Amino acid sequence: MILGHIQPKKILEFGTCYGLVTLLFSDWAVENGARVLSLDNIDYVEEEDKKKFEVLPVELFHGDEYDQSKTIPKLIDFVETDETVLIYCDGGNKPQEFFQWSRFLKPGDCIACHDYVRPKEQIKEFRLTEFDYAGTSLVARTMKRYGLEPIVPLDAHLTGMHVFAAMKPKENNDGNSESDCNGAKNARNNQ
Ligand SMILES: C[S@@+](CC[C@H](N)C(=O)[O-])C[C@H]1O[C@@H](n2cnc3c(N)ncnc32)[C@H](O)[C@@H]1O
Repeated sequence: MILGHIQPKKILEFGTCYGLVTLLFSDWAVENGARVLSLDNIDYVEEEDKKKFEVLPVELFHGDEYDQSKTIPKLIDFVETDETVLIYCDGGNKPQEFFQWSRFLKPGDCIACHDYVRPKEQIKEFRLTEFDYAGTSLVARTMKRYGLEPIVPLDAHLTGMHVFAAMKPKENNDGNSESDCNGAKNARNNQ
């Protein structure tokens, strides 16, 4: 699984919604000494579930992901750290989140998009475009721009996976990337 492969100490989630994935991240965080910051502009979390979150290392933050006065500074503060970070894009505009937040990744960090890669017939349902699907998308361009490498292959939907994940490669002593094929292989073996 991606979490096991990346071993993040900080997880930033765009799109808390009812908090299902937030709960998964939080459980993992408890066991691995990590922290979660989850953002949504609408409060969907049931009161009962909020109580569960109170005892977990998670902050549910309400704000608009485009709000430059309060939200963005808070998120930047969270991801600008020496610790390993996972950014999970499942908010209002996933490719845009992927683009906007990739610039903060340091070697070993990971950014993932939920429901980004889908079979062609589901593209409309998930508000993706043919252009996105073709791999010439904002996500593909962002990967090139920031030197990211896929740790879950772009055709992962064929195996039923709906998360596309990429990491900023670690550098070995030769200055070469370490996360390339071995990273992808290990991630897949760990699923
Ligand atoms: C696909 S849902 C998230 C699903 C959730 N991660 C889960 O697995 O249960 C997308 C969420 O993004 C939130 N969202 C949409 N636009 C947003 C914005 N501008 N700022 C913050 N959150 C936003 C929506 O309110 C919605 O809850």
